Amino acid sequence: MKRAEPLNLDDDLLGEVTSGARALVVCPDIRGADYELGAQERLEEACGLALAIGIEIAHSYVLPVRDVRPNTLFGAGQVERIGTECEQHEIELVIIDGALSAIQQRNLEDALKRKVIDRTGLILEIFGERAATAEGRLQVELAHLDYQSSRLVRSWTHLERQRGGFGFLGGPGETQIEADRRMIRQRMARLRRDIEQVRKTRSLHRDRRERAPWPLVAIVGYTNAGKSTLFNRLTGSDVMAEDLLFATLDPTMRAIELPGMEKVILSDTVGFISDLPTQLVAAFRATLEEVVAADVIVHVRDMANPANAAQKQQVLDVLADLGVGVGEGEDGHEPTPVVEAWNKRDLLDPETREEFGQAAANDPNVVPISAARGEGIDDLRTRIDAILTADARCYELALPATDGKRLAWLHQHGHVLSQSDEEGGLVARLSVRLTPREYGRFRSLSATDAA
Ligand code: GTP
Repeated sequence: MKRAEPLNLDDDLLGEVTSGARALVVCPDIRGADYELGAQERLEEACGLALAIGIEIAHSYVLPVRDVRPNTLFGAGQVERIGTECEQHEIELVIIDGALSAIQQRNLEDALKRKVIDRTGLILEIFGERAATAEGRLQVELAHLDYQSSRLVRSWTHLERQRGGFGFLGGPGETQIEADRRMIRQRMARLRRDIEQVRKTRSLHRDRRERAPWPLVAIVGYTNAGKSTLFNRLTGSDVMAEDLLFATLDPTMRAIELPGMEKVILSDTVGFISDLPTQLVAAFRATLEEVVAADVIVHVRDMANPANAAQKQQVLDVLADLGVGVGEGEDGHEPTPVVEAWNKRDLLDPETREEFGQAAANDPNVVPISAARGEGIDDLRTRIDAILTADARCYELALPATDGKRLAWLHQHGHVLSQSDEEGGLVARLSVRLTPREYGRFRSLSATDAA
């Protein structure tokens, strides 16, 4: 812990948890608290998150808390029990899957003689590792500083140290904590400015991508639903030249081929997490920016998870908040079509599998899959493809015959029904099937950058 030291803001703020640490995960179940998920499900989710960043879980359980103790959260007997388990299992790190005040964290660390992190700390680690975009990284750092500064404020009495007379720390008598807080505030202000700047540049990028000829498919879903497994399945070995560009800009984007389309861009996103601490909401949303620009959203659901209905609702709520307008169109935006990939069907018992199979058969926007086994992936591809081409209609177009690039573009992306030369071969007249979006892209291509 850095609590007794002046903050070194050059420290790697996100690298606090050692990957590979042996951990004990304790999920407090506080009486009367309003949780989105049941205690056991929350525990499993927390373990999943910890595993995802390479922490080794030696032991984990739910611990009911009748009355929250301001100093330690848990009662004295419970702290003792945790201490014994730490010894038994040679624990290096204790993860408390709930919110700890700075005082509680410090007291638990003192009592257990081990590093203790809470849920916000754990999620910050995940976001830090997963944030792929510049804005995502800045937002995570901002959330991290916010978290740190709240720790400083709350642990005032433990941190306060008079440090009279150092001009560079501020006025005489300024305490170290005040200096630390001031530095954090300054750093946060700078991060906010940087974020503003990145947003401006990103919207430029997005404009550019909207003009780019490829549709964007975004994969969203709850943490552990199987997004990355599906992403890898769909991308498989067809790594294309464009990937080099996207891989450098953003490693979670790849170009893939669909049955009826030469290329679409596939984008993976950070997973949804239940009871997301409010201070992390902005960071989480920043990582979902691609979803707003998507032509199709693939919502991966872990159908083997008993909480999958509640998870789905949360995902839909966030998408609605992002203004994606799933279902009903909002603010004049077209609603973005969503395909639900009902994943992990291999884990379902035969009756449930049958039941889900029936439900899926009646809903064209549901595709049962097993990303891990590669089942249903072709159906999913076909479905995405069908949506992207569903509202295609026929356009009659006339272009200068010399406009080879735009002609080539039409042949590549549309379905050319007929083509004839007119005006002595100066004009090419085409009848082409395109989706309205493709037509928009075609219209925005200048004669020179259509390649
Ligand atoms: P986050 O990155 O935490 O958001 O998770 P994610 O949604 O990307 O999930 P990921 O692809 O990492 O998969 C989570 C776990 O589920 C992994 O252990 C996968 O092997 C497993 N998994 C994914 N798809 C399937 C499936 O179809 N069947 C089974 N049995 N396991 C699966």
